[in-house]
Amino acid sequence: MQARIPLIPNSAVPLEASPAKVEDTFDDRERDTRETRRQGTMTTTHETFDRVESQVRSYSRSFPKLFGKAKGSIIYGEDGREYIDFLAGCSSLNYGHNDPDMQAALVDYVTSDGITHGLDMFTRAKEEFLVAYENIILKPRGMDYKLMFTGPTGANAVEAAIKLARKVTGRTNVIAFTNGFHGMTLGALAATGNAGKRGGAGIDLNGVHRAPFEGYFGPDVDTADMLEQMLDDPSGGIDAPAAILVEPVQGEGGLNAASGEWLKKIETIAKKHGALLILDDIQAGCGRTGTFFSFEEFGLDPDIITQAKSLSGMGLPFALTLLKPEHDIWKPAEHNGTFRGNNHAFVTARVALEKFWRDDAFANSVRAKGEHLKTRLGAIAKRYGLNLRGRGMMMGINTEQGDVASDICAKCFEKGLIIETSGGRDEVVKVLCPLTIDIAQLDKGLDIIEDAFEAVLAKDVSRAAAE
Ligand SMILES: Cc1ncc(COP(=O)(O)O)c(C=O)c1O
Repeated sequence: MQARIPLIPNSAVPLEASPAKVEDTFDDRERDTRETRRQGTMTTTHETFDRVESQVRSYSRSFPKLFGKAKGSIIYGEDGREYIDFLAGCSSLNYGHNDPDMQAALVDYVTSDGITHGLDMFTRAKEEFLVAYENIILKPRGMDYKLMFTGPTGANAVEAAIKLARKVTGRTNVIAFTNGFHGMTLGALAATGNAGKRGGAGIDLNGVHRAPFEGYFGPDVDTADMLEQMLDDPSGGIDAPAAILVEPVQGEGGLNAASGEWLKKIETIAKKHGALLILDDIQAGCGRTGTFFSFEEFGLDPDIITQAKSLSGMGLPFALTLLKPEHDIWKPAEHNGTFRGNNHAFVTARVALEKFWRDDAFANSVRAKGEHLKTRLGAIAKRYGLNLRGRGMMMGINTEQGDVASDICAKCFEKGLIIETSGGRDEVVKVLCPLTIDIAQLDKGLDIIEDAFEAVLAKDVSRAAAE
């Protein structure tokens, strides 16, 4: 029998505010909670979270709702209310919630005692994923890369990429860009631009030189030329770089989509200066822009590519660092971790590759929906004199003000749509719906966005007139 763990009262919460007695156990409370919910008498859904969970949580603040189920592009509140999901686990659910084929394969694997945890040992599930990735992704694209399974988060894939670039070149400096987001562990955070995120580090974040992303100084300044000039100049002040780390489309940083020409220049600069080019495709990859890798149409040849988020296909934690074979100089276990290669994710990721990437049908449908999204968001943006941002099905509207964008997202939530902001000032209303969404649901969500823009911006205009 399981030990019954006494609950320790949270000193920040007055005891009388808590529905449970101090001597209650976790089991007691869970049973009480389930019973209360079953009887329909649970009035606040976040009391438990406020009491027990750290305040570091974030998305639950924008969407303070108890969710229970999800299918396709819909998440269901425990009260039965339906929400269209235009956040999709921040691009971790490109194929929607609970794809039936991935679900069936996973259930079958689990119930037939397939290995759940195998460290990085050889398992059937891993082998099948490797073969699928090689045959469906790498070979048809003429790509020659080794697959390195890192810890399960995107940040870990980025850490591995940065470490490897430093090891290969014997240099430390990494060039990363304004508005870049690469994760919250110290190495990845050093490459991240956002001051609020960096502030949580509690230590100096070193080893990164910040360069301006494309368009940072407006359309007339070529920031790639600027970077090249500074690197060429012995007094430019930039230490010889180990790597240039860049997102082809900046997801968290406000949906800034780099052009192929700019990325090509960055690649040339990296080669000329002996740095490795690392493309962080964690958010923009797995089909989000209409191709498996977001940079495919640009003819780039990165040294290292990072993937995570939708790679498992079903929202399971799973990350990958792809490296050119000549850079595979790791010593065994030099970048280690208990959770490298999630066998359940190997199963669902293989199904995702086989189901969606064996031919062009899915990619074509994503491109068509991306055009539709562009047309409809473009019309909304035009109405209010705002700009569109992004590429493919990673698109949004720059409202230019964080409070406006968050008011719009809050209004959307009231109307049954889950959508978030991005950008340095949270000023972009960002659509990241599942790529599998049908047009009717996409339009329904876009109608809600349209109404929310009208409600918030009309209110703003009348507020300005009254002042
Ligand atoms: C481009 C990019 N890189 C890295 C990360 C970090 O991934 P994770 O949150 O899984 O650590 C993210 C997360 O949003 C991302 O968008």
